[in-house]
Amino acid sequence: MAKLYIKIYPNPVLRKKARHVGKLGDDERKLAYGMIEAMRSASGVGLAAPQVGISKRIIVVENVDNDKKAALVLINPRITRKKGNVNFCEGCLSLPGISSDVARPEFITVEALNLDGDILKINADGLLARIIQHETDHLDGILFIDKIGFLKRRKIIKQLGAKVCMKF
Ligand code: NI
Repeated sequence: MAKLYIKIYPNPVLRKKARHVGKLGDDERKLAYGMIEAMRSASGVGLAAPQVGISKRIIVVENVDNDKKAALVLINPRITRKKGNVNFCEGCLSLPGISSDVARPEFITVEALNLDGDILKINADGLLARIIQHETDHLDGILFIDKIGFLKRRKIIKQLGAKVCMKF
């Protein structure tokens, strides 16, 4: 697969609801490995397929709870349990230079398939839970800036606008 490039807000693919993956094959495998490479070369800890312009329900997540750093590939992830509420500073590779505190559930259970088609059920908290929720949101076209207050969001969007203006 050709090298993958990260799509930057306001690219419309970031707002599309991604398609369920029905069959796992070479395309999905190559996509997942390409996404892990793109995530790592951008020094990110998670990436969703829409962020590389592919509207499929696949996310990759750095396994921050595991020293071996084997990234998790989650296909058709669904968050089936949420508990608690905690604020944490988030950023996003599709919103470069922007970060904000975002409130989310602290504990989650996520169910997904891995690349072999096995069913995974993962209980997560802390940073891992945070990343999984952020990336799963991307599959529904939701960005972290949608989860913060209106005034703060307006300020951030202004900042993003200013960045775009400076670039051109
Ligand atoms: Ni993101």
